[in-house]
Amino acid sequence: MNISIIGSGYVGLVTGACFAELGNKVICVDNDNKKIEDLKKGIIPIYEPGLKELVANNTKKKRLIFTSSIKDAVKESEVIFIAVGTPTLNNGEADLTGIENVARNIAINMTGYRLIVEKSTVPVETGEWVKHTILNYIKHKIKFDVASNPEFLREGSAINDFMHPDRIVIGVESKKARDKLVNLYKPLNASLVITNIKSAELIKHASNAYLATKISFINAISKICDKVDADVLEVAQGMGLDQRIGLSFLNAGAGYGGSCFPKDLDAFITISEKLGYNFELLKAVKNINEEQKNYVLKKIKDNLWILKDKTIGVLGLSFKPNTDDIRNASSLNIIKALGLEGARIRVYDPQAIQKAKEALQKDKPVVAGVKFCKDSYEVCRGSDCLLIATEWNEFKELDFVKVKKLLKRPLIIDGRNIYDPKMLKKLGFTYIGVGRGNG
Ligand code: UDX
Repeated sequence: MNISIIGSGYVGLVTGACFAELGNKVICVDNDNKKIEDLKKGIIPIYEPGLKELVANNTKKKRLIFTSSIKDAVKESEVIFIAVGTPTLNNGEADLTGIENVARNIAINMTGYRLIVEKSTVPVETGEWVKHTILNYIKHKIKFDVASNPEFLREGSAINDFMHPDRIVIGVESKKARDKLVNLYKPLNASLVITNIKSAELIKHASNAYLATKISFINAISKICDKVDADVLEVAQGMGLDQRIGLSFLNAGAGYGGSCFPKDLDAFITISEKLGYNFELLKAVKNINEEQKNYVLKKIKDNLWILKDKTIGVLGLSFKPNTDDIRNASSLNIIKALGLEGARIRVYDPQAIQKAKEALQKDKPVVAGVKFCKDSYEVCRGSDCLLIATEWNEFKELDFVKVKKLLKRPLIIDGRNIYDPKMLKKLGFTYIGVGRGNG
């Protein structure tokens, strides 16, 4: 099929490359000329395992091309995915300016039937607005369909998530639209959930809100565990083996971050409010998540007392492993708070140092006290404590004898619960996890 993806950000790029890999002819569009020129040369703006190779392979086979012209893309493609950003406005609502703009441009440039598919996470009823916008700006009497096909890709495993999805949600209003999308996804042989457009839009919001709720729930439990000397890992295991609950997304830690959960939760709370429902449960989920970052900070303070002129080693900057994305990363919140208290900070991350440097640059007083290190051991050298902020695999395999020698004080604050407390205590460390019974 000839398809276009408007918006070559994280979702657009992964979706485009994967559809090309399945044998479609894909045009990826972006209004950032520099990004398009880079992509043509094989330079990928994000780190995502396997993406560079997938883009290179499909570009070479001429199944994947990049352009900044929506006009050309709309002319060539029967199915057009909208994957532009929907950032959060000050009032918590999603900013849909990008979606509206793309819908207008599609309408103006349509030369025949087109299926326009929302891929970005959007509030319920956005499909209706896209339809109205196209009708308002269309030049001739041309037929079209609008559909919703939300993405569930996780950063760090996005290609695998695309190729092996738990389900594919398709929100449609016509048989033609349904047949086209079913056909497009046929090679994946996945379970399809076919609904109306509004249900599909809600499935995305409800899924992310539910996953965030699961994380905040276990984080709340972690606080109780600390108080009564229980271990949250054991509690999560015992709960999660109940098939009705499930083991995933029950890892307590320094809270969730990223470009999706915080933004989508804000948007869902605001949408609900607009619809006349006060979604108090989600407000609590959000508050627990904010508190959790302070909770980890408090653990450092409880052990080091005065932070001024102390050195804190921090392992991990990205909001989760296997990505260089630092958006809403708990690590950055904690680093900023430590910096404001006058602590010196030594940090290392396998992929996210550059992006963290750029983000912290705006915070002059904090960045002055941050030393970006070349590896975990350099972080440890002379630090009063070691904080694990992101659970990269390489942090799980440290040489602890060496770590102990390098640290000024053998104190580990495990903000992601990746270590075995018994093993570390045996080696002479003071180990503080999140909900491991010693908070
Ligand atoms: C999420 C959704 O999973 C995906 O379906 C959606 O399309 C986009 O948003 P992503 O943001 O890439 O994906 O990461 P995810 O793996 O879901 O983790 C989100 C955050 O939750 C991370 O900060 C992670 O560290 C945290 N998390 C996750 C926990 O703290 N505990 C857990 O048990 C799971």
